[in-house]
Amino acid sequence: MTVLESFSLKGKVGLVTGGAGLYGWQVVQTLAEAGAKTFAADCDIEKQEDVAKRLRTEGLDVTAVQYDQSDEESIQAMLREIVAQTRAGGHSGQQRRLAPDEELVLAGERFRTQHGG
Ligand SMILES: NC(=O)c1ccc[n+]([C@@H]2O[C@H](COP(=O)([O-])OP(=O)(O)OC[C@H]3O[C@@H](n4cnc5c(N)ncnc54)[C@H](O)[C@@H]3O)[C@@H](O)[C@H]2O)c1
Repeated sequence: MTVLESFSLKGKVGLVTGGAGLYGWQVVQTLAEAGAKTFAADCDIEKQEDVAKRLRTEGLDVTAVQYDQSDEESIQAMLREIVAQTRAGGHSGQQRRLAPDEELVLAGERFRTQHGG
């Protein structure tokens, strides 16, 4: 494995919050250039879509999603959307196995459903 290959994020999913911001979009670009399927999340979806479109024209796998960092339900909904979109991208139409962080998100949802809060 080369040094550059050891930094590869191929096959990984990235999430950048505040992804439309001055700092955020550059992190989005970096994760996507490293090969991650990258989700860029911001409350300003128009600004985020503009960033995602521009990066996609460079051949990068960037998807804009909307959320509000001050609203927990909005954060959970954004994570569910990312898990759903990531699952849908499995090979040959089959659902791929969930990554540990995705399992964690779903486990958190199950716990809240069962125990309230
Ligand atoms: N720019 C820098 O050089 C720099 C350096 C060090 C630290 N920081 C810190 O990093 C953070 C981001 O910096 P930046 O320059 O990208 O700021 P920015 O203002 O350009 O971007 C922030 C982004 O967050 C989004 N946002 C605001 N409230 C939100 C909410 N409730 N839910 C979802 N999205 C929301 C905004 O729409 C915006 O796109 C800040 O906390 C900043 O202090 C920035």
